Amino acid sequence: MLDLTPDRAILDPIEVASRDEIAALQLKRMKWSLAHAYENVAHTRAAFDAKGVHPDDLKSLSDLSKFPFTTKMDLRDNYPFGLFAVPREQVVRLHGSSGTTGKPTVVGYTAGDIEMWSNMVARSIRASGGRPGDILHVSYGYGLFTGGLGAHYGAEKLGCTVVPVSGGMTERQVSLITDFKPRVIMVTPSYMLSILDEFRRKGIDPRESSLAVGIFGAEPWTNSMRSEIEQAFDMHAVDIYGLSEIMGPGVANECVETKDGLHIWEDHFYPEIIDPVTEEVLPDGEIGELVFTTLTKEALPMVRYRTRDLTRLLPGTARSMRRMEKITGRSDDMIILRGVNVFPTQIEEQILKCAGLAPHFQIELTRSGRMDEMTVHVESVGNASAEDARAASARELAHHIKSTVGISARIDVQEPGHVARSEGKAKRVVDNRKRD
Ligand code: DLL
Repeated sequence: MLDLTPDRAILDPIEVASRDEIAALQLKRMKWSLAHAYENVAHTRAAFDAKGVHPDDLKSLSDLSKFPFTTKMDLRDNYPFGLFAVPREQVVRLHGSSGTTGKPTVVGYTAGDIEMWSNMVARSIRASGGRPGDILHVSYGYGLFTGGLGAHYGAEKLGCTVVPVSGGMTERQVSLITDFKPRVIMVTPSYMLSILDEFRRKGIDPRESSLAVGIFGAEPWTNSMRSEIEQAFDMHAVDIYGLSEIMGPGVANECVETKDGLHIWEDHFYPEIIDPVTEEVLPDGEIGELVFTTLTKEALPMVRYRTRDLTRLLPGTARSMRRMEKITGRSDDMIILRGVNVFPTQIEEQILKCAGLAPHFQIELTRSGRMDEMTVHVESVGNASAEDARAASARELAHHIKSTVGISARIDVQEPGHVARSEGKAKRVVDNRKRD
């Protein structure tokens, strides 16, 4: 694969600034952001007052731990516009997330916020190996979801030729990639696998495609999945992270030259890791829940937003800004099976060890009597779909899961094409326990 290490001259100076410079900028911006939220959002003022803290109490970055958290519940309780810190007329864009229960959460952006977001996505694309002039294919969904439009504005900002395809119509995705010859694609990793299947179904060699860089995110995916995609397409696969409450895609991104975790764009988003139970701040290097405070957001400033994503903070490498390790999963997605904690990414890793299995999978939870059971629905690859080959793959996967994760799972190996596909974020867990 090509070496895409950027010339340092094309980076934003702050990406390679000293830690002292970064910390000084963060403190200045954090003071502004806390005051902005306190003065303009009734909910934030009440929460600060209830905790007996005032924005003036922030003298150093570590003082942030005195301030209250914000949760998804706060967004729901203030639905739709209650947490906006500017008059609604100054909000030029709304996005939202569907959520699994009840009302969606709504987020808003001023023109200045859209400008900052575009710059952060442009920086992310550049870190991934994209350059001005590239043709860039966007398969993230356009709409209330931040993926499509977030990627789109950032790619335009960098100076790319954007192909705004959105998700779905997989056959057309492949025709457009074949015809327009994009160098970069932005899509969820699970949907990239469906695009891969379609290449193969059409008899087109994916390694011969024009794609040199894939920027994958919006859902957890493993380093094993990275290798799978990189080998299949002969391309770089780079991780992009973000969430609508903080902005959308582009809060953190891997650098293509190191692929060693995601650099958090700390000049705009201040990260903390907390113990999700005690809510204590943990030192860098320890795994816990990721919490973000926005430093420059105008319409929707967020103070200590609890993401529910589990990771740890690591020092900078390719950039001065700290990295977050690839996300293991969300605390909401953690399966507790007979006392053992399991994340879908751990199952993904084991599936990718089995040569006879394709990486499409779904985990089903059921209850028989008092016992919870896990079934992993997975597919064979084309040349291993005979019944005895599928049975052998099932035994192999069951063995890997037992010996590494420590649980007994039922494995259902189906023929190619039989496991549910997503066109955006994959639904990895189907919980049928409640119906029993
Ligand atoms: O998924 C924003 C996004 C779009 C990110 C496109 C990257 C690419 P939400 O729909 O609000 O926003 O979902 C946010 O998705 O809290 C994580 O649990 C998960 N997530 C996002 N990126 C990653 C990633 C977008 N790279 C939630 N790895 C987050 C693991 C991710 N999980």
